Amino acid sequence: MKNAIKVFAPATIANLGIGFDHLGLAIYGPGDEIIIGEGSEKGLKIKEIKGAKGRLPIDPTKNTAGVAALSLLEAIGAKDYALEMSIHKKMPIGSGLGSSAASAVAGVFAVHKYLRTGLDVSELLPHAVKGEQIASGAKHADNVAPSLLGGMVYIRDNQTLDYKRIYFPKGIFFAVVYPEISILTRDARSVLSKSVSLENAIQQAANFACFVTAANSSDLDLMARCLDDRLIEHQRASLIPYFNEMKEIAMNKGAMGFSISGAGPSVFAMCFNQIEAENIAEKLQSFLKGKKIQATTWVSDINNDGAYLF
Ligand code: HSE
Repeated sequence: MKNAIKVFAPATIANLGIGFDHLGLAIYGPGDEIIIGEGSEKGLKIKEIKGAKGRLPIDPTKNTAGVAALSLLEAIGAKDYALEMSIHKKMPIGSGLGSSAASAVAGVFAVHKYLRTGLDVSELLPHAVKGEQIASGAKHADNVAPSLLGGMVYIRDNQTLDYKRIYFPKGIFFAVVYPEISILTRDARSVLSKSVSLENAIQQAANFACFVTAANSSDLDLMARCLDDRLIEHQRASLIPYFNEMKEIAMNKGAMGFSISGAGPSVFAMCFNQIEAENIAEKLQSFLKGKKIQATTWVSDINNDGAYLF
């Protein structure tokens, strides 16, 4: 590929237990890498996809990275530009860590950097959301926004993409455990009831509001008390093998909270420090191993960088 550049978009923990579809944060480690360069013919071509075991479409109009990139190319009047992309998935698909969002963000960010669009990074968000939407079947930016912008992002309205990046204390570490089964976001959404009780809706709103405020003021104990999901977790827990047992292990080991990352099956323990997160990750992995379930773990604090150019 001529004149190629390489970009990376990180994985994310969406929902964070209490902010279904409206809250997410970026982590270090897993993510998507895209190399983009000059193509030999008009338009965008995806040359290869590594690390996806043939599970992702190579047709750019059907691929999340492709759709996001095409949306931006169209918006800036450059859709006939000869471009080639090589996608390297460095994270599992269908894991609850925002795999499709990382692809969409990397796709749009690659075009942005390669063509030096001069746009503000925040202007890429609607294009990345379009890409992610074809994979998840719903318009929500709780993975895409933190993957693109880094940090923790609160999305007030997923339609207008009215969002706010919120301070999240450094020093809090996440033990992320991916039990190696795949759950499609569409399926994890289809199990959710359309109505909730007034009591739970009110408590959830209080937990969500207090969590964001507590994060802003680094009140770790209040953050821990807020991480109590009344709406979603109990409906999805049965999709994840040994969810309740894992939660009990993590909480007994002193985690601030434990819940499902995005649509699952990955789970996360939010921890007061790195050592605690490493211990919990190890404990959960060996617990799952004892149940004959292969699991991958990551330990990360908040990634404030978001997408970047190598
Ligand atoms: N908020 C989404 C969900 C994230 O939980 O369904 C998954 O893409």
